[in-house]
Amino acid sequence: MTLDISPSGQACGASVTGVDLSRPLSDSAVADIRAAWLAHFVLAFPGQKMSDDDLERFTLCFGPFGDDPFIAPIEGRKHIIAVARAASETGPIFAEAWHTDWSFQETPPAGTCLYGITIPPVGGDTLFANQATALEKMPAELRARIEGKRAIHSARAGYARAGAYGVNDAKRAMDIRPSDEAMATQTHPFIRIHPETGRAALFGCAGYIIGVDGMEAEEGMTLLGDLYRWQTQHAVQYRHQWKPGTLLMWDNRSVLHMATGGYQGHERLLHRTTIGERTIE
Ligand code: SIN
Repeated sequence: MTLDISPSGQACGASVTGVDLSRPLSDSAVADIRAAWLAHFVLAFPGQKMSDDDLERFTLCFGPFGDDPFIAPIEGRKHIIAVARAASETGPIFAEAWHTDWSFQETPPAGTCLYGITIPPVGGDTLFANQATALEKMPAELRARIEGKRAIHSARAGYARAGAYGVNDAKRAMDIRPSDEAMATQTHPFIRIHPETGRAALFGCAGYIIGVDGMEAEEGMTLLGDLYRWQTQHAVQYRHQWKPGTLLMWDNRSVLHMATGGYQGHERLLHRTTIGERTIE
């Protein structure tokens, strides 16, 4: 088996062919995919036919399952959630805001896998923003404002009872379970060193980040706004356009991502797993 890896030509991302993900992967294929994932941050595997068993087996090649709070898994599975929207839904698009998955956890997931099942004929792209490049190109003055500082992360704006997916949310195909546990906070450095590559990158953004440790709220919000504009700029983005049967895997330590709309009146269904952080000896 020879993997064919074609970079997207955008700020990150590559397409991978020459592998059948409905079959167990050899150790060397896993090593090659891991190397490509760490180099390109987002890998798209088009033209796959994956069952939920295949998705779980693929995920476990790259680490343990992550812990997915606030969204109930699909029936019969503990580690797969459905990112789903019915054709009749009119409320806000799920995850249409820049974020890094579950960055409010003590040990956030290393990666996420998302498999496209029902894909609308228009819209519904997923955007990514390369946070290693954003940091490397950052003006020294902005970098000095975050160097050595820790961000306060929380799920409250989304998943608390009063949050965007809380008790007043529109009716959804997704089984989201808001909870008081979303009020918890967790700090992480703004600049994190990637545990596998040693490359520094920005981690998280305003949204799950609700403040700056040790800074007055107003000053913190100004900093988060300035940082957000820099780290989500078009120059660091990759736009993924979905087709049914594509598996996407991304590195949460290196990119932000967000869903987009533009498919009103159409159904969209993807199955998602998270890859937990490995213990590196
Ligand atoms: C997500 O953030 O996991 C969802 C992305 C998408 O629906 O495109």
